[in-house]
Order: sequence, then C-alpha cells, then structure tokens
Amino acid sequence: MTAPPPFATVPGDEPLRVLLVGAGGMGRAWLRTIAADARVALAGVVDLDPAAARRALAEEPGTDAVPVGTSLGEVAARGGAQAVIDVTVPAAHLPVTLEALDLGLPVLGEKPLAADLAQATVLVKAAEDSGLLFMVSQNRRYDRRLWALKAQAARLGELGVLTQEFFRAPRFGGFRDAMDHPLILDMAVHNFDAARFVLDRDPVAVYCDEYNPPWSWYRGDASATAVFEMTGGVRFVYTGSWCADGLETSWNSRWRLGGARGSAIWDGEGEPEVEIAHGPAGPGPVAPPLPGAGTAGSLTEFVTALRTGRMPMGECHDNLLSLAMVYAAIASSATRARVQVADVLRAARAEAGIPAEVP
Ligand SMILES: NC(=O)c1ccc[n+]([C@@H]2O[C@H](COP(=O)([O-])OP(=O)(O)OC[C@H]3O[C@@H](n4cnc5c(N)ncnc54)[C@H](O)[C@@H]3O)[C@@H](O)[C@H]2O)c1
Repeated sequence: MTAPPPFATVPGDEPLRVLLVGAGGMGRAWLRTIAADARVALAGVVDLDPAAARRALAEEPGTDAVPVGTSLGEVAARGGAQAVIDVTVPAAHLPVTLEALDLGLPVLGEKPLAADLAQATVLVKAAEDSGLLFMVSQNRRYDRRLWALKAQAARLGELGVLTQEFFRAPRFGGFRDAMDHPLILDMAVHNFDAARFVLDRDPVAVYCDEYNPPWSWYRGDASATAVFEMTGGVRFVYTGSWCADGLETSWNSRWRLGGARGSAIWDGEGEPEVEIAHGPAGPGPVAPPLPGAGTAGSLTEFVTALRTGRMPMGECHDNLLSLAMVYAAIASSATRARVQVADVLRAARAEAGIPAEVP
C-alpha cells in the first residue's frame, strides 16, 4: 500500500472535545470509554432518536450539561466539538462522516468503514480531499495476546502460512439471521483485519467458498472457507462457521502460524505458544506497545494521532484493505473464481464514480 497522505493535527493541551454520534448499544460502550479517558471530554451526543441519547447519558454521572440533539452541525457548534466519534449503524457511516469532514472535524468511526465497498472508497477520497483524519475503530486489534502473537511471529523467520479456525453457534436473532453473508460481512472483517495486523501483509487475491449447512438457522451463508494470497506469497487460510454447535473456538478464532524456523499457535484466549524447531530464532518478543485494550486502545490511538500527526492503525486507507478482503471473498464465492483484491477495489471506485488512480 502506498503511504496515506498526512492529515491535519489538532494542537492543544486541554482534553480533546469529542462529539458522540449514535447512542445505541455500542454508543453506550463508547460513552464509558470516553468518560474513562482524561485526554478527551464529551462535547455532545447526537442521535436521530434524542430519547436514546438522553437514556445513554442518564447512565453516565456528571453529564447533565452535555448538549444533545439530532443535528450533528448544531450540537457540534454548541459543544465546541473538535472531533466526531461515529457509532451509528453502518448505513449512516457515509452521511455522518461526510458531514463531519465538511465541518472540518476529524472522525473516529466504528467498523465497518461503510455499508459497502463503493461507499468506503467515497469516504477515503473525502478524507483525502479534506486533509483530515478518518480512522476506523477495529477494536479487536487492541488485544494484548494478539500483540504477543505478532511479537512471536517475528521469531519464526520468513512466514509461510497462517490458518484461522472460527467456529461458534450464536443465536442472535434479528438482522444477522436475514443477511446474505452474515459470517463474512458481520464477523470475518475482525478476523481478516487481525490477520493483516499479525502478518503485516496486504491482501492480493482470494478464493472463497461460502455455504450454508442444512441445519443452519441463518437465511444466508453462515459458513465459509477462504484462501488469501497476501503480499510476499504468504497464504492466509480462514475457515469458519456461525452455526457450529459444540467445541466452539474463541471469538478471536484459533490460529496457527508457520514460518521457516518454527510455528506459533494461539487459541484466541490464552497466551500464544511458539516452538522454534531449528536455526537461530529472530529477536525475542518485545514488550508490546499496546495503547490500551479494545475501544480504549483505539481512542488513545486516535487522540495521539491528532496531537502528534503519527499515522494511526485503522487510518481509512489502511482499513479499506480489510474491508476489501471481505468484498473480494464474497465476489469470489459468487463467481466461483479466484478474485484479485485490486480488481474489486477498482470496481468499487468505478461504481462510486471515482476516477481510476494513475499508476
Ligand atoms: N467493534 C465491535 O465490537 C462492535 C460491536 C457492536 C457494534 N459495532 C458497530 O457499532 C455501530 C453501531 O452498532 P450498535 O449495535 O450500537 O447499533 P444500534 O442500532 O444499537 O445503535 C445505533 C444508533 O445510531 C443511531 N443513528 C442511526 N443513524 C443515525 C444518524 N444518521 N445520525 C445519528 N444517529 C443515528 C440510531 O438511532 C441508534 O440509536 C455499527 O457500525 C456496528 O457495526 C461494533
């Protein structure tokens, strides 16, 4: 990936004033994360349903004077917002992010980057044109054990293959039961993004087979196996199911990473294990500079980026590739053919009316 362009910093010593947009289930979790971080202050809460915003604030002590409303621009002005945290439903990520950038406000958005890949390319272009930071919070990246696995991976020498097994049987009810691609769209983006993080490789091509077992309680395909070619020829093999009763894996999946000198495994819950079979091991694990766990980690990453100009994990150009893995896998399954990730991105840009990049 070519380096993303730099973005405008927000200098200052006072807590960064953040506006929360979307006060549903995940928005309430974000309110707690904001309250626990002294580097930020809540500038306001926006929701199409103001009652939802008020209910969410009622759970947070000391927020009586926090502005609430349905208009992002109006509440941002009243609260003196310096940045937006977008925790709305995926369909609203496009309009909310565009409005925030238009107001000159950088955005930390919940995953997924947008409701589809074409909209995602529109937002990446808008962030580029605005010169503002748009970062996606991929909270499962901020996990101490995942960072430990990445450190162990450095000891294995040249990497060959990563496998992830994800087998769970959640009975969610609701929208996931009706989705066409519940596993790949709603869940696998986390696992794919974590694989990119540990491998430090970008996706090149994929062959994917989605299917729905006869006993599945989902309408769409709740199971899939995908073989990704990553840069440098590394293979990433994902196999998963959301209707797999018995012997469930963790939400992080079960990992095995093979390199020239040995292998590492991780059950997604405990500590990763490594065995160096031969040759000199690479440098040992370094203390992972984890900025914090879960959403607290992505908030720290966002604030540090705005204060210092350091490129954060999850910056939209980078996160676009995790979402592209999802859509390339779906395209491969639909056509029963190996799909190049660059082709899927090109098609998404064309659909969004964005001119092709000059090579
Ligand atoms: N990272 C994770 O682990 C994780 C977990 C759950 C949800 N999420 C993500 O968080 C986001 C929100 O999910 P949720 O479960 O909280 O959904 P939700 O439906 O519970 O809440 C969404 C809220 O956004 C509001 N909203 C919708 N459109 C809006 C708009 N244009 N302007 C202002 N408010 C608007 C709704 O009224 C609702 O209150 C989604 O992108 C979802 O994928 C991430």
